[in-house]
Amino acid sequence: MGAPDLLHKGFNAAMRWDLTELDSLDDLHLPRGAIKKAQELAALLFNAEETFFLVNGVTVGLISLFLAFCRPGDKVLLTRISHKAALHGIALSGARPVFLPVEKDSSGFPRNISAAVVRQALQEHPDARLLLVTSPSYWGITADLPAIKQITARHGVIFAVDEAHGTHLPFYGGKLPHSAAAGADIWLHSAHKSLGALTPGAFLHLGKKNLVSPIKFWLQVMQTSSPSYPVMISLDLIRRQMALKGKVLFSRSWNWAGYFRQELEKKGVQLLSPLKKDGFKLDLCRITLFCPRGEGHYLAKRLAQKYRFQVEMCDNSFLLAIVGPSQLLFSADDLARAFSRARRESLVFNPGTTASSIAMDFSPSFFREESKTFFHEHKKEESFPAFCLTPREAIYSPSLVVPLEKSPGKICSEMVVLSPPGIPVLSPGEVITEKVVCYLLQKRAEKTLFQGASDPVLKTIKVVTGDNKI
Ligand SMILES: Cc1ncc(COP(=O)(O)O)c(C=O)c1O
Repeated sequence: MGAPDLLHKGFNAAMRWDLTELDSLDDLHLPRGAIKKAQELAALLFNAEETFFLVNGVTVGLISLFLAFCRPGDKVLLTRISHKAALHGIALSGARPVFLPVEKDSSGFPRNISAAVVRQALQEHPDARLLLVTSPSYWGITADLPAIKQITARHGVIFAVDEAHGTHLPFYGGKLPHSAAAGADIWLHSAHKSLGALTPGAFLHLGKKNLVSPIKFWLQVMQTSSPSYPVMISLDLIRRQMALKGKVLFSRSWNWAGYFRQELEKKGVQLLSPLKKDGFKLDLCRITLFCPRGEGHYLAKRLAQKYRFQVEMCDNSFLLAIVGPSQLLFSADDLARAFSRARRESLVFNPGTTASSIAMDFSPSFFREESKTFFHEHKKEESFPAFCLTPREAIYSPSLVVPLEKSPGKICSEMVVLSPPGIPVLSPGEVITEKVVCYLLQKRAEKTLFQGASDPVLKTIKVVTGDNKI
């Protein structure tokens, strides 16, 4: 009644679904009716012991995960390709992160974490409470989840997977490893990303009944007490759609993407290709196109403005396009031609084109060199150092801002995030290294804006005061 006309005009149909916790409509925080049934059906489809609807994205699931299973000081293992929400959860819980490197290919492009690194990390940190793997990565590369599961089971560590970009993997018919098949303890799906649920609808799945109670408590704490019915309805509808047509839709998308890739390659476009080492696999529907002359930003803009083709993200040396069931309506030949034309045009018209290397577009802290060996407070040599301050301690420690150039050796007290992909380059509590500062200086020179930082242009950075000797 009180809504402005424009809201009515734009959302009239949707507003009919914008309901609340009436008797017949159940309650997300005490589900006994329709929501309980819908969550049970989702658990059945995704092969989980229990599934929870998330009305604030995988973000709220990751935060609740750390609050539920980590006490202050508990060690958690995760990679540097983790989303910032994981670090937010760690900061809230007071846990102590241990960052594990991801592998890279010969061009410097990040793959994912190898089972060998997990094995070594758990030998060095047998007291770790939880391992979080991000699989697939933002660029569609899956880790060897079955091998990692075997290792975590041996060490009795909770095995969680951020499968935000892989909600559709179970419908590929076994082409790629996924959490349910690997037997993960907890996994998270951004259903609004690849399945088309309303933003920010997501699922949290549990593989074991004994994990239900703590996670249930924290989801009640962290999620609104007025959950969005349109979002929940979309989760149920998408579940139904996937149960009926998921395999057909995603096997067609896989084939469409495979053909599109072939056509692009025939036209001389270089793509990130399927991988054979360390159990890594590539989701063919994530198409990373290399831009060796640094034309990534220009090409993405041209594709959007002239060809009305929106890519997911771009940087100087690459762009990432995502294929899903909605592309099935388009001709792969036409799109490949448009891509190739836009690429030729961008090579001719992009005035700032310079040679660009993939390695320059990724933080060196993703990889092993940064964390090779490190002398911790006990002077013990470690390949995978735990932060000297937990993110929570660092956030609440006295701090000051210093010029970015003067920050190497100091302890960071804020998060510095590149978004997309929403991955922190620096997190509170970690020692800032010269290599990372060089990388940030280069990104700053390209006029990048940094999320999370008190100074988004990063002239200065917030560090913990004191001499911070480790
Ligand atoms: C790997 C990863 N995890 C988690 C998230 C957060 O997901 P959501 O948008 O569903 O909160 C994102 C968002 O892009 C992501 O890329």
